[in-house]
Amino acid sequence: MCGIVGAVAQRDVAEILVEGLRRLEYRGYDSAGVAVLNNGELSRTRRVGKVQELSSALETQPLFGGTGIAHTRWATHGEPNERNAHPHQSEGDIAVVHNGIIENHNKLRVMLKGLGYTFASDTDTEVICHLVHHELKTHDSLLAAVQVAVKQLEGAYGTVVIDRRDSQRMIVARSGSPLVIGYGLGENFVASDQLALLPVTRSFAFLEEGDVAEVTRREVNIFDVDGNAVEREMKESEVTHDAGDKGEYRHYMLKEIYEQPTAIAHTLEGRIAGGKVLDAAFGENAAEFLKDIKHVQIIACGTSYHAGMAARYWLEGWAGVSCNVEIASEFRYRKSHLFPNSLLVTISQSGETADTLAAMRLAKEMGYKATLTICNAPGSSLVRESDMAYMMKAGVEIGVASTKAFTVQLAGLLMLTTVIGRHNGMSEQVEADITQSLLSMPAKVEQALGLDDAIAELAEDFADKHHALFLGRGDQYPIAMEGALKLKEISYIHAEAYASGELKHGPLALIDADMPVIVVAPNNELLEKLKSNVEEVRARGGLMYVFADVDAEFESDDTMKVIPVPHCDEFMAPLIYTIPLQLLSYHVALIKGTDVDQPRNLAKSVTVE
Ligand code: F6R
Repeated sequence: MCGIVGAVAQRDVAEILVEGLRRLEYRGYDSAGVAVLNNGELSRTRRVGKVQELSSALETQPLFGGTGIAHTRWATHGEPNERNAHPHQSEGDIAVVHNGIIENHNKLRVMLKGLGYTFASDTDTEVICHLVHHELKTHDSLLAAVQVAVKQLEGAYGTVVIDRRDSQRMIVARSGSPLVIGYGLGENFVASDQLALLPVTRSFAFLEEGDVAEVTRREVNIFDVDGNAVEREMKESEVTHDAGDKGEYRHYMLKEIYEQPTAIAHTLEGRIAGGKVLDAAFGENAAEFLKDIKHVQIIACGTSYHAGMAARYWLEGWAGVSCNVEIASEFRYRKSHLFPNSLLVTISQSGETADTLAAMRLAKEMGYKATLTICNAPGSSLVRESDMAYMMKAGVEIGVASTKAFTVQLAGLLMLTTVIGRHNGMSEQVEADITQSLLSMPAKVEQALGLDDAIAELAEDFADKHHALFLGRGDQYPIAMEGALKLKEISYIHAEAYASGELKHGPLALIDADMPVIVVAPNNELLEKLKSNVEEVRARGGLMYVFADVDAEFESDDTMKVIPVPHCDEFMAPLIYTIPLQLLSYHVALIKGTDVDQPRNLAKSVTVE
């Protein structure tokens, strides 16, 4: 969701703030704004559209000042226009940026209007600035006013507040939306993601739920939810400075697709020894937590949910435990049954997805034996609040459409399958075979990337299409779902995925020459069944694109284009067949001229409900 950057320094900060926004733009990009304090003056510039619009405006009319806040927005309340762009102001004194949703904003709005405040936007955020302004009338510091104001907010917020009359500090508060303090030399910063601040510091402390902090050039004072002064551990970031660069690639998404062999190699590194996955890959006390697990409940959203769907086939098929997989936004609002010795697994690239986080908290209350997160963001809420964490080490993912995070999640879940399986009767041979498969994945993915040119050519066929159907069976069904999601996300072609055995129960009615059907067909025990489904489509005049194992004996003809995929074993097949589908969606989007890295209406890291 939206991105926040703030700074208190001796030098002018507008450029630092805008560079920070650029690095966060993948999180929200419908408008952007910056406000700075200079000698008792509060100046603000906001623009609709990308951060570049704001940057151009600031080139023409620069803002000077050493204390400032900035924001790139993904609209929740109020359409994307300049008056709804952050920072918001109260009476020309207080300026605020905010991520999250204030659920009681209507009530607060009525109360504040009653006190004489005029609202200039349709946002929920604006209540925060008027509330702080109002509280400052009876409190003697900005810190105290913010502390009292945030107690009146219901919902989620990561917010930064500055006051025209006090240009030496910013007050930051976190509840439900992440914020990290960046420590510099004689200057300090805040951001919703450390990535924003890597050009200026590598020392970070993550705020915890309910924290409020006062940040000046020389000091950072943090207070917990009860107002007690607290220390939050400062850590040196391991994220590399150039993590946010596209390098030689035209898009982040393409870069991230091509990074998959390395990302998978990183995730395996140091976690496999003597033909076995080490329990410690899942955290210090993982062996103790995992040994009695008999049931796994997986919770995730979007692409991460698809990874969980694939893992269900593995956990039930090979590890000998039962497994449910559910979308977080459903799980958190329904009554579910808790099986004895249940492990709750969340899967999340960002570690901050609001629904997943809420589902995990609910599971803790319900009494799950343990919680494990498969996560790519060190220090994120899911990592901090889970009993165990499998750190994906996929490297920063900037493209809004998730690619390398997905395949690394699959690799992590396969590792989890062996660890849980070991305690539930998985044979040593199966464990050794899976481990061997994991180790050969990076090279196999490299081979699959070799399909790029052929897929670029194939993509031409999709340029004028409005719909597409993806088919798979078994653990390739989630891969078909992921392929459909990628295509719709970045090319805006309506795409659906079906388990191909389900075709005859309805979707067959859709088949005609305008509905391309994409099939994933590894050479596995379901191949013959899948071939029958392909025939069902052919008989109805459907046009098919079959990604098939080189040995699967499919042949191209007028109704079917076969794209041979390098042979791979059953353990890695879901991961390998993901690659051509990612490339297909990328090339179709290129042809359609959409914004590949920042598709319309979407944002990375969905920190609101
Ligand atoms: C799709 C995509 C989203 C995310 C989903 C969950 O390409 O990226 O569907 O997978 O929003 O995000 P995380 O994994 O951060 O919890």
